[in-house]
Formats: sequence, C-alpha cells, structure tokens
Amino acid sequence: MDAREMKIKAAEAALAHVEEGMRLGIGTGSTAEEFVRLLAEKVAGGFRVEGVPTSERTARLCVELGVPLKSLDELPALDLTVDGADEVDPALRLIKGGGGALLREKIVAAASERMIVIADESKLVDTLGAYALPIEVNPFGLVSTRIAIEKVAARLGLSGELSLRQSGDGEFTTDGGHHIIDASFGRIPDAEALSSELNSIPGVVEHGLFINMAALAIIAGPAGARTLQANR
Ligand code: A5P
Repeated sequence: MDAREMKIKAAEAALAHVEEGMRLGIGTGSTAEEFVRLLAEKVAGGFRVEGVPTSERTARLCVELGVPLKSLDELPALDLTVDGADEVDPALRLIKGGGGALLREKIVAAASERMIVIADESKLVDTLGAYALPIEVNPFGLVSTRIAIEKVAARLGLSGELSLRQSGDGEFTTDGGHHIIDASFGRIPDAEALSSELNSIPGVVEHGLFINMAALAIIAGPAGARTLQANR
C-alpha cells in the first residue's frame, strides 16, 4: 500500500464518523483532501452535510466537488472536524501547519465538539519535534518576534534553526496575511510549556502545536487503519 492509499484508508475510516446533517470542519492537506473526495461522493448520492473549510485551498476543492460550504460565522458551532497532521504523538498532541493553514485549522477545531485526525503511520512519533514546528507570525516586527521566539526556546532548552517560510520569490503568506517561521527544534519534550510560552509572544499569531484538541486519531498503515483515542 502506498502513502496515498494509506491516506484514503484513514479518510474512509473518518467518514464512518460523519452523520447525516452534521456541521463539519474540513481540514487542509493531502490527507484531508482524500476525505473531501470521499465526502463529495456521498454528498453526490444525497447525503446532507454542511462544511466549514479550514483554508481557501480546501474551500476551492469543496466547491469544485460540490460539498456545500458555510462560513464559520454562519455555523459557529460544529459537530466534528476532520483534519490531517504533520506529527501525532501517543497522547494525540499534534504538530500541524505544514500546509500553512494552522490558524484557521485551530480556530475551526476549537469550534468543534470533536476533532478526528487522519494520517498515515509515518506521522506517528514518540515525541513531537522532528517535523519543524510552524509558527504563524505577524509581518509587523518580524525580527523582534523571531528574537522573542529564540529566547523562549533557549529558556526551555530548545535550539535549532528558525526559518522564514518562502514561496516562489518571496515570503509565504497565509490565508490570514501572516508569515510562518518553521522552528526545527528536533525534539519538543514539553509541548505544553512551549505552547503557552509561544502564546505569550505578541507577534506570534498562533503555532502548530495542537494540544488537547484531537479526540481520535485514525492512523493508516499497510495492514489498514487503527484508531487511537485520547485519554482525557
Ligand atoms: C495544513 O496546514 C496542515 O496542518 C496539514 O493538516 C498537515 O500539514 C498534514 O498535511 P498532509 O495530509 O498533506 O500530510
């Protein structure tokens, strides 16, 4: 089974949690896109759902495939969000934002009663951090914000390159008009501490650590999909 097939397996298993009439948060990334494709097939067959997309990219795909969309202001309380992740640890802490949609992803997940993460098994790690942590920052005062991030990291015993994400011939800009600093810490032993320290930096808009958000993770491997549950 190749990576795409595993993503499809995880997406299929997540679709089984979607009930008729649900208000759905719809994630971003290649795994979430497999979920959108399967959902669209069901919708074409008459299944009723309303979705709130976590990015412009996801919105475009949903429109193309006929998945009915609403804004989060129109549907401010959602039943379920299904989204991918860059890393998942055994406590279902996540790193997200590889696709640059972490702010909307976090807002949508927080507005949802439940979040299900779908991923292939390459995303499962013992300790978060091998994947560079995306930190969404306001373009104003970028240098000061970067220095503040370095100080927080040093206080927590973390080090590694902080690189401003690029796209084409300039800085990558998120749907919200911000930039992303990717922090290659290697290992983040205390994700909770890092999360709250980053949240205290004014120029940090949001970061890609999702803690206590996912209720279930559906992880697909060659033998099929298995479900991990959060212990809380
Ligand atoms: C988008 O900003 C991310 O949070 C994605 O959910 C994450 O990068 C996973 O993407 P893939 O499913 O493409 O690996």
